Amino acid sequence: MIGVFDSGMGGLTAIKQIVKMMPNEDIVYFGDTGRVPYGTRSKDTIIKYACQDVRFLLSKNVDAILIACGTVSANAISVLREQFDVPIFGVVEAAAQKAVELTNNGVVGIIGTNATVKSDAYALQIKKINSDIKTVSTPCPLFVPLVENGFTNEDNEITRLTCEHYLSDIKESGADTLILGCTHYPIIAPVISKVLPGVNLINTGAQAAVRLFEKVKPMGGNGIIEYYVSDDIASFKAAAELFLEMPVGDNVFKVDIEKY
Ligand code: DGL
Repeated sequence: MIGVFDSGMGGLTAIKQIVKMMPNEDIVYFGDTGRVPYGTRSKDTIIKYACQDVRFLLSKNVDAILIACGTVSANAISVLREQFDVPIFGVVEAAAQKAVELTNNGVVGIIGTNATVKSDAYALQIKKINSDIKTVSTPCPLFVPLVENGFTNEDNEITRLTCEHYLSDIKESGADTLILGCTHYPIIAPVISKVLPGVNLINTGAQAAVRLFEKVKPMGGNGIIEYYVSDDIASFKAAAELFLEMPVGDNVFKVDIEKY
C-alpha cells in the first residue's frame, strides 16, 4: 500500500496519475487541510508537520511514501529519510529530470511556494544533471489559497491576473519549460498556459508518481483509496471529486494530526 501526503489537495495531482497508471493500487492519502499552507512557514515547522504526516501514514501500514508536496520535498526529505525506515520519494528529483529532458533552449522556469523557492532545491537538482541549464525561479504564494478556495476555472479573472503578476519574469526569461514546483499548481495549469503559451508545464505530482513506479514494484490491491484530512470532510470531498473526476465515496475521514 502506498501512502501519499500533501499540505492539502495538491497531492491529488499524484493520485490522479497513480490511478491512471496503476488502478489496482491501494492508497492512503493524507491532506493536511487544517494546517495548509506549509509554504509560508519556517523550515523547522515544515519538518515538524512532515514528520507527523509520515507517522500518521505509517500507522496505516503503508509500504512506501510519496511526498506529493513540493514544499516538504524541498525542505524536509533528507530528515524524513533519516528518521523513518520506509522508502520515501519526493517530487524534486523527478521534476528536475523531466525539465532537463524537455527544454530545447536550456532555460527552465521554476515556480513554487516561498519555502520551496528559498530552498533552491529544484535549481540545484537541475544543475546537478546539467550545469549549462539556466534557471529562473519565482515564488507564487497566492496560488495555493486560490486553488484551496476553488478559484480554478480556466476563465477565472482573478487567477489569470495573479498569474500575469507572478509570471512576468519567467516570460521575460524566454524559458521554454516551467516546473510547477508546488503540487497545487497543475490544478490551474490551463490559466498558466494562457499567460505562457507554448511553454512546457511540468506537473510535479504526476511526474513523481511516474518515477515512483520506476523504483517500486506495483504492490497490487483492490484499487481502494482512503482519504484523510485534518479539517472539514465535506469541502475536501467536493473539491477532490471535481478535480479527480471520480467519486471518493464515503472514504474521506478526519484525523487529529497533532496526536502523531
Ligand atoms: N502542495 C504544496 C506544495 O507542493 C502546497 C504548498 C503549501 O502548502 O503552501 O508545495
